[in-house]
Amino acid sequence: MSFRTTTDVTYVEDVSPGRGALPPRAWYASSDAKSLSLNGSWRLRVSATADAEDDSFAEEGYDAGDWAEVTVPGHWVLQGDGAFGSPVYTNHLYPFPVDPPRVPTENPTGDHLRFFDLPEDWPALDEGGAVLRFDGVESCARVWLNGTDIGEFKGSRLPHEFAVGHLLKPTGNVLAVRVHQWSAGSYLEDQDQWWLPGIFRDVTLLHRPPGSVLDFFVHADYDHTTGEGTLRVDSDVDGRVSVPALDIDIATGESVTVPVEPWSAETPKLYDGELVTAGERVPLRIGFRTVVLEDGLIKVNGRAILFKGVNRHEWHPEKGRALDLETMREDVLLMKRHNLNAVRTSHYPPHPAFLDLCDELGLWVIDECDLETHGFTEQAWRDNPVDDDRWTPALLDRAARMVERDKNHPSIVFWSLGNEAGTGRGLTAMAEWIHGRDSSRLVHYEGDWDCRDTDVYSRMYAFHDEVEKIGQKLDGGTHKRRELPFIQCEYGHAMGNGPGGLADYQKLFESYDRLQGGFIWEWIDHGIKHPELGYAYGGDFGEELHDGNFVCDGLIFPDRTPSPGLVEYKKVIEPVRIDGDGADGTVRVTNKYDFADLSGLAFEWAYQVDGETVEAGALSVPDLSPGESADVKLPEPPAHGTGGETQWTVRALLATDTAWAPKDHVVAWGQFPVSGRQSPSVAASDRPAASEKLITLGPASFDARTGALKTIGGVEVTAPRLDVWRAPTDNDDGAEWQTDTRYGMLWRKYGLHRMRHRLDAVEVSDDTLTVRTRVAPAAWEFGLATVYRWTSDGERLKLTVSVTPDGDWKVPLPRLGIRFGLPQADAVRWFGGGPGEAYPDTGTASMIGRWHSTVDELQTPYVRPQENGARADVRWVELGGLRIEGDPEFWFSARRWTNEQLDAARHLTDLTPGDTVWVNLDHGQHGIGSQSCGPGPLPQYFLRAEPTEFSFVFSTAR
Ligand code: GAL
Repeated sequence: MSFRTTTDVTYVEDVSPGRGALPPRAWYASSDAKSLSLNGSWRLRVSATADAEDDSFAEEGYDAGDWAEVTVPGHWVLQGDGAFGSPVYTNHLYPFPVDPPRVPTENPTGDHLRFFDLPEDWPALDEGGAVLRFDGVESCARVWLNGTDIGEFKGSRLPHEFAVGHLLKPTGNVLAVRVHQWSAGSYLEDQDQWWLPGIFRDVTLLHRPPGSVLDFFVHADYDHTTGEGTLRVDSDVDGRVSVPALDIDIATGESVTVPVEPWSAETPKLYDGELVTAGERVPLRIGFRTVVLEDGLIKVNGRAILFKGVNRHEWHPEKGRALDLETMREDVLLMKRHNLNAVRTSHYPPHPAFLDLCDELGLWVIDECDLETHGFTEQAWRDNPVDDDRWTPALLDRAARMVERDKNHPSIVFWSLGNEAGTGRGLTAMAEWIHGRDSSRLVHYEGDWDCRDTDVYSRMYAFHDEVEKIGQKLDGGTHKRRELPFIQCEYGHAMGNGPGGLADYQKLFESYDRLQGGFIWEWIDHGIKHPELGYAYGGDFGEELHDGNFVCDGLIFPDRTPSPGLVEYKKVIEPVRIDGDGADGTVRVTNKYDFADLSGLAFEWAYQVDGETVEAGALSVPDLSPGESADVKLPEPPAHGTGGETQWTVRALLATDTAWAPKDHVVAWGQFPVSGRQSPSVAASDRPAASEKLITLGPASFDARTGALKTIGGVEVTAPRLDVWRAPTDNDDGAEWQTDTRYGMLWRKYGLHRMRHRLDAVEVSDDTLTVRTRVAPAAWEFGLATVYRWTSDGERLKLTVSVTPDGDWKVPLPRLGIRFGLPQADAVRWFGGGPGEAYPDTGTASMIGRWHSTVDELQTPYVRPQENGARADVRWVELGGLRIEGDPEFWFSARRWTNEQLDAARHLTDLTPGDTVWVNLDHGQHGIGSQSCGPGPLPQYFLRAEPTEFSFVFSTAR
């Protein structure tokens, strides 16, 4: 064969989708046709420009002996310890000059080579054909097999297949793939994520026997009025369809209607079937369900559904977007175990195996096309490809590749045109094509608030008050929009500590029919495992443009540990509401599922005295249907000693093992008090005794000159002082573009991180040591008159702090409480909210009980260090030899560094434990909100500077 080497790379900047690929079709795994995975070790050479090297490497016999080896699927910038370049993170800015479709001369290009032999049992080469399938390559690839140029393609997260049967040899096949990081396609792929070139999904060779299946479309509807399903499988190649459990055996193209159990995210009933053509058998997993827009609502199987969803990017801290099956399964299991029922595949179709898992385990899916042109917003959307006919073929190609690949998944209820791409004719063309091709699903796109092309009014980060207006249908908009249901395709920005305010959103979603729920932004922090930094984020690779830790905004940490945000969300969206009245011993149980009754759950009660369970038992709750409630009588409270704070805790647990969690997994819970807590009381019976250097009072000693506490019962302390500072959270700082007040910024402006403590008086009376101070920042005229009053009954020491603001306070306080230091502390026990952190608007999941931990485990490892780890409603805590009781309950946190050190750290690895454990006992915390991309805390969660008094009682731990 003659081979002409070229360096023609004009295709890179060509707006067309590519050349040579087969038409898109359904993705499936054959039962009997052979396939060969070409994943594994490949040879790689990276060059700096698209045309630095000619294409002679694709020639048979080329010696790539000195090339590096990389793993496919993978991104070359995440392999080779930086030898092949680094990742780049930008939110919406294009990391190259915007001059569509041109891309920079510096265009990292990875030449890949894979050598393979056909397996022994591969059919003879004249028996049928073969297809080479790429499931995902970023961003543009040209492919040669055995020296023959077979085409090139763009559309990173979409499959591309090539007919290659005529080129195969039994042994010594050479597959050459040239991958360019930047291409015209990059203009369509401006999603907020790392730019990661490479062959990052599977490469597979599929044998295509004569008479094998080409493409097929499973239509499986459910009629909720009759309980019957109708099945029809349209197939390019005629054959038969069988579903043994339903006694179905029909020809392709033929319909049959039989009684079935429907598919829903809550009851994901799949029927195994088979499509058989002359040359192939293909397994089918059929879910019967009907999705419609009716009465202004999204209905599935006749019922309006409520999305309790999340946006999922594909992410692994070492492999980037090259996810293995186990990781995908872990994501779905974690979602199910945290009560989520929906996922938006932001912002591209995921690996197809993920959708199999959604079908199998039950999640509603918005499948989103690989399309975002957000960077054009910087130029008022001029030249936006979605409004330029030259790009329309590429857009339609993307729509078709998504729909054709994924059309047989019952879990998909919406096709989404893409994300943040403005508006334009190209989007309309996509919507028209999709509606025409698949009338069994709805179309979503957030960017068009007039809803010209969509079947749902979708928004992101709308504030609570606006959402309520929309719920009341008082938001106006086009007449078409007024008839449509509403979802928040993104809300609750889970960056760092937070998101706050989820329960307030959920209340709205549950109050207005038009509001059909939402999808938290987002599932996982895209931190990249880094040898020195722990997890890297934007800027850590020296990028010229970047958006810092905005890429770490997930409900799970990069290692997939649930963050407190996920625990909170689980509680907020729990499918069973458990309210109670402790006084009359009744619990009200409400089924909030859309389809399932409560027969899958078992209920348990526990009666607790001072947070400790004294008795527990099973509670019999009727199998309520969706929407139903029942009042259930609790048993007589067990006898226990007098006094003490008592409460009921009622839990709903899985009654049996399910596909996604074992029996006894907690799905929902509620707590309600029976008798309240008695505040600690300390008679001020001991007299302060002053000597030249020291004042002693009960178990404590103080510096005689400053009144600073020095020891309590032999435990040396760094004296408590008022503390109003917290290391601002990402939500405190807020995003630059926010137009409403960003308090994190103002706190710094007003010096709340550098408050000075002026000593005004140390007064010793008969029963009290009083220390008067004024706490205020340099340069400003406002302050907090702060008085510490110490009393003791000889054994216990009580501190009462009175705070009186003076001057014009223009900001709420980050926190209000005291901070002191302990020389050592490790184990921590407390009675109060736990086990995890909670803040005023993130505290729904905080359960009152007895908890224990260690100082290190109290820390929440937000990728960018910030305020974290507070435990709420604490009655008492024991650590470092001390017991501290609060009047009233307080927020507690402890760490081996100061809040200032926490504030200064950029990565967790910047935090080094010191010799002191710093303890904050807070009377108040400011809310968290979601202002890193959404509303700040609602007014009811503000910590306003106002006259306040609170007390703590210190003693030696028992
Ligand atoms: C949205 C966008 C997401 C992400 C998010 C902020 O505007 O659709 O991709 O950037 O904001 O994290």
